[in-house]
Amino acid sequence: MDIGNIRAIIARMTLEEKAGLCSGADFWHTKAVERLGIPATMVSDGPHGLRKQDEETDHLGVNDSIEAVCFPAGCATAASFDRDMVRRMGEAIGDSCQHEKLSVVLGPAVNIKRSPLCGRNFEYLSEDPYLAGEMCAAYIRGVQSRNVGTSIKHFAANNQEHRRMSSSSDADERTLREIYFPAFETAVKQSQPWTVMCSYNRINGVYASENRWLLTDVLRNEWGFEGYVMSDWGATADRVVGVHAGLDLEMPSSGGVNDARIVQAVREGRLAESDVDLACERILNIVYRYAENAKPDTPWDKEAQHALSAQIAAECMVLLKNEGDLLPLDKSDSVAFIGEFAEKPRFQGGGSSHIHCFKKTSALQAADGLNVTYARGYDVAADSASDGMIAEAVAAAKAAKVAVVFAGLPDSYESEGYDRTHMRIPECQVKVIEAVAAANPNTVVVLHNGSPVEMPWIGKVKAVLEAYLGGQAVGLATVRVLFGDANPSGHLAESFPLRLQDTPCYLYYGGEGNTAEYREGVFVGYRYYDKREMDVLFPFGHGLSYTTFEYSNLRLSADSIRDTDTLTVTVTAKNTGSRAGKTVVQLYVRAAAGEVIRPVRELKGFEKIELQPGESRDVSFTLDKRAFAYWSMALGDWHVEDGEYAIEIGRSSRDIELSAPVRVASTTAVPVRYDANSIFMDIVKDARAAEALKPLTDALDAVFRPNADEDTPAGEAISNEMTAAMLNYMPLRGMLSFAGDKLPAGMLEQLLARLNGKV
Ligand code: BGC
Repeated sequence: MDIGNIRAIIARMTLEEKAGLCSGADFWHTKAVERLGIPATMVSDGPHGLRKQDEETDHLGVNDSIEAVCFPAGCATAASFDRDMVRRMGEAIGDSCQHEKLSVVLGPAVNIKRSPLCGRNFEYLSEDPYLAGEMCAAYIRGVQSRNVGTSIKHFAANNQEHRRMSSSSDADERTLREIYFPAFETAVKQSQPWTVMCSYNRINGVYASENRWLLTDVLRNEWGFEGYVMSDWGATADRVVGVHAGLDLEMPSSGGVNDARIVQAVREGRLAESDVDLACERILNIVYRYAENAKPDTPWDKEAQHALSAQIAAECMVLLKNEGDLLPLDKSDSVAFIGEFAEKPRFQGGGSSHIHCFKKTSALQAADGLNVTYARGYDVAADSASDGMIAEAVAAAKAAKVAVVFAGLPDSYESEGYDRTHMRIPECQVKVIEAVAAANPNTVVVLHNGSPVEMPWIGKVKAVLEAYLGGQAVGLATVRVLFGDANPSGHLAESFPLRLQDTPCYLYYGGEGNTAEYREGVFVGYRYYDKREMDVLFPFGHGLSYTTFEYSNLRLSADSIRDTDTLTVTVTAKNTGSRAGKTVVQLYVRAAAGEVIRPVRELKGFEKIELQPGESRDVSFTLDKRAFAYWSMALGDWHVEDGEYAIEIGRSSRDIELSAPVRVASTTAVPVRYDANSIFMDIVKDARAAEALKPLTDALDAVFRPNADEDTPAGEAISNEMTAAMLNYMPLRGMLSFAGDKLPAGMLEQLLARLNGKV
């Protein structure tokens, strides 16, 4: 329906009907207005499958939803570094939405993994904003290609579960712009999600649901968002303020209380009716976009999606360690699978994203027909491993050529609603791993977890496969990877620190009371570890393969550009091993040495390509201003410092294989206003200002440095270097204190007027 018709409908609505349309009919539906033929539409959680609740509704996954397909969770799919694959997963989910008459799937969830402790990290994508943005934009493209909407969430800075409905994420604008916003920004600019879900928390003291700067100035006016904003479930604080801020739809509803408040506010002149009209217009736009494109006869082939889910899970797994090429295993090898997760894998997380699966395949089931034995090892529910269980595990390990221990985090360790308090896996699992590794030198660990864990046992095992929460078919994927039917190609979308105490926000995470200060600023994940040159367990971007790749011949389209130009980067990737495999070519930009404190390097491009043994192929990237820019608080915009940057190609943030320099020249000057407190060294950087200042610097030089060209005589208390530094750091007003009697009256004022371009 075109906008004219939608406006005509709104013109016929009463104020009460309009206010009513701005909140849900129930947990999962928008309201119908039968009198005017406005249909109700349904939304449902996801995002890695459908959690459509038909009867008893709740939003925490307590009650069952329809039988659906659980794809790998965000923690896993991000590790695929594969836009195309995530798009295909989105298409499958879009098809199931059409089949189930769902207008919007509530996701993707894209909040940055600020700390490994966040209980919802398993749903989120990455510590890196570029990767998170590219992956979520691809997912949205996939779902929306089926004429079903997405709701990118949770906007914004929702990086902890602790006090999630009241805490304020306090960060400076540069940190928000560089780290916490870009996933949303990229999604809006590339894929225009139909809806955005605002978060529970406050940002610098203002609830997201009431934040006009966030929901209107940035989201709509700057980025161009066209859909509607809905609240997270129960995130609406002051509804009237929210309408004006740009919160269109309150979910689920307030039982009519907030609708009445909207009506009253309009009647009393505290809220413009046009604000309510605008919210209705945005909601109806999406309601009709779905309703007019509904295809309930779309088939939902769950078996086919189960197979797709297995394929995707295999693409996401990250081979962290593979000493002596222990993996892949030979299908004739005798192998002991140890640990309850082999039989009952943990493949999804708890809370609103929990999918009621129509089917599950464990590794043990998938290994049917292979020479595999099983020992339970530990009891997940009891969080324990009896001596008998350990003895059984050791015996199984001894009897087999290779032992594979399935370990990781039980449901209770990480979930929506609360944060972890440590980064360890259960002690009983550590015991099993160590006992098995002592019994069999060929021990492999398969991990099921949604966020990094400490691995004190890493030196005792030969191989580690990070399977994350790989969806209902994770067992199939695990067996394919272990036995070489699939070549692992996932890469870490987050750093694995050695220990919790190493993490960038260790001192402040969770905050004090309702205040969570993001004091580490832009130094999140590898931006922090790299800057501090700290050892990590596994770096961001790391991931092994059963084959080897080589990168060569790095070419730049220019060795010097302006920030308004684009730069094309080309590199040749070659499979130098004997198996087909996929490599993720990662492009980092190393910042120029400048005034601004910046991370050492930042991911600005990646491509995943498949190569046959011996095959080589060129991979190209196009970089624009954003690849070199930081957020300038002074400018209120992106800015590039002049200087020499490096284009780095690597296999992880710590394994850079090729590097080439490029000079980038800024076309924007950061505006400066000089005053009496401006210091000399800042002023003389600007050639025009330096010229204006020349008479004064000469006068001061004559006073302070009559012998500037000579070496300081030995034993002098004040060296020439110190004098030079003093002058550099001296404010303009200092000239009155130190040389006032030698300067004409009014010189300071005249000078400032010249410096500021007024004369
Ligand atoms: C979660 C959202 C979810 C919503 C609906 C909230 O508690 O934060 O991610 O979409 O519930 O279930």
